[in-house]
Amino acid sequence: MNGARIVMEISVEGGNFPAAGEAASKVKKTLRQLGINSDLIRRVSIATYEAEMNIVIHAYRGKIILQVDEEEIRVIAEDIGKGIPDLNLAMMEGFSTASEKVREMGFGAGMGLPNIKKCTDELKIKTEINTGTTVLMSFNYAK
Ligand SMILES: Nc1ncnc2c1ncn2[C@@H]1O[C@H](COP(=O)(O)OP(=O)(O)OP(=O)(O)O)[C@@H](O)[C@H]1O
Ligand SMILES: [Mg+2]
Repeated sequence: MNGARIVMEISVEGGNFPAAGEAASKVKKTLRQLGINSDLIRRVSIATYEAEMNIVIHAYRGKIILQVDEEEIRVIAEDIGKGIPDLNLAMMEGFSTASEKVREMGFGAGMGLPNIKKCTDELKIKTEINTGTTVLMSFNYAK
């Protein structure tokens, strides 16, 4: 990486299903251009996609921030939204508050956050009711 620090910021719009996944695609493309190991790209892409979808499905709007430096890769998903009332419950496999309409589109299995947990080396979630949620995901190079 030669000391370079890459920072990218992509807006995500709540409810915009046609555009959903674009932020994760951009992140993936950038990491490919940087020559990052494909296994690591796979983990970052899955986690970013799930965090992006959670903004689309559960929040009003937000952004995905990518930070790449010599130590690690970080993806921050920040949104303005309802927040998560019970984080422990939300982290459980199968827990979802997704609407019937969203489930018909193939989402709402309650697997996004558990999947993010599996793909990240470090996960921090800050959430405030009626304000929003920030999901901070870190990925190590050596793995
Ligand atoms: N950014 C967010 N803002 C508000 N609530 C959220 C957010 N992300 C997750 N949640 C809450 O946590 C629950 C679990 O999230 P998770 O991503 O695991 O499942 P899901 O989005 O419901 O379904 P899936 O990810 O499998 O499509 C959601 O149903 C929702 O209630
Ligand atoms: Mg989800």
